[in-house]
Amino acid sequence: ASDALLDRFGREATDLRLSLTDFCNLRCTYCMPASGLTFLAKDQMLSVDEVVRLVRIGVEHLGIDQVRFTGGEPLTRPDLTEIIAGVAALRPRPNISLTTNAIGLDVKAAGLKEAGLDRINVSLDTVVSETFERMSRRPLLHRVLEGIDGARAAGLDPIKVNAVLLPGVNDHELPDLLDWCLDRNLQLRVIEQMPLDADHIWERTSMITAADVHGILADRFVLTPAEEPRNGAPAELYDVVDRASGTPRGQVGIIASVTRPFCADCRRTRLTAEGRVRTCLFSREETDLRGALRGGGSDEDIARIWRAAQWGKKAGHGMNSKDFVQPDRPMSAIGG
Ligand code: GTP
Ligand code: 5AD
Ligand code: SF4
Repeated sequence: ASDALLDRFGREATDLRLSLTDFCNLRCTYCMPASGLTFLAKDQMLSVDEVVRLVRIGVEHLGIDQVRFTGGEPLTRPDLTEIIAGVAALRPRPNISLTTNAIGLDVKAAGLKEAGLDRINVSLDTVVSETFERMSRRPLLHRVLEGIDGARAAGLDPIKVNAVLLPGVNDHELPDLLDWCLDRNLQLRVIEQMPLDADHIWERTSMITAADVHGILADRFVLTPAEEPRNGAPAELYDVVDRASGTPRGQVGIIASVTRPFCADCRRTRLTAEGRVRTCLFSREETDLRGALRGGGSDEDIARIWRAAQWGKKAGHGMNSKDFVQPDRPMSAIGG
């Protein structure tokens, strides 16, 4: 019997985002400090069985129908394939997706697809190696591109690409990045940077906004709002036509979390790698489930704690209010 994950603002969470680790093999400036962080020890993180059990409780008791694994970098978990196979065996079977930097996917994609992975979103901000190294502090662009090729070869479809734009770093490359993605049938989504970076480099006045994105793309492309319904998705979709030739090219998404918040239609609940419910990216509190898991709590007990946590979800991220305070955890420890 499913008893939905509701909050006091009438929203129902059907989309679970589960961070599998806070570790990452990149150090993107908008996400992690150069020195890294104190990462969770293995026994602090949820095991395969614990992850599968929590997702099962979400699916059987709480109406979850979409599961997205995030990190840090989820491919750094050696047991990712087992986790996906475990979740794919649940009934009703949820849709299973992965947000990843794609490093290592060339080797892993076929096995993950086989285990039940439905689709992936790859974080890629540039296809220029120098810019990639400047943004991620690692010279690994080629590994990401190999990973994307491997994912395509394994038949993962669609593949979406997430790009964060930093002013003066990669914003001017956006038309080339979009062209590159459209040529490969990858759906690019341009993300407004949010204040979730460990170094607090985010500045409202200099961040690249959705309006800036339209301006940057206007020379080369004509964007028209797409017909399909948004269904609570962060991305607003546009059909893209080459301005010079008039040729239809595909679609681009814009994720305007800061300037056009979509919190009122949020369908998300989150679990951190150590098994705490975060009802929002910008939560200032978390609710532990691991204690109940490891302390012999029943499925019903855990569902009840999760439901109570979700009921306390805030109306929105509050980023545009005067007394906004950035959460203590950076994006790498929440999972996007
Ligand atoms: P699909 O549309 O199902 O493919 O997923 P998605 O776009 O939700 O997933 P993805 O992990 O690729 O997220 C893309 C970006 O959307 C993230 O990096 C965040 O910047 C943003 N995002 C995702 N969820 C939230 C959210 O709950 N709140 C806000 N403000 N931004 C979010
Ligand atoms: N603001 C917006 N998006 C971010 N991401 C990481 N840090 C930030 C930030 N500060 C995105 C990455 C990745 C996803 C997990 O989160 O681009 O696609
Ligand atoms: Fe790692 Fe992703 Fe953060 Fe980049 S954005 S440092 S790939 S967690």
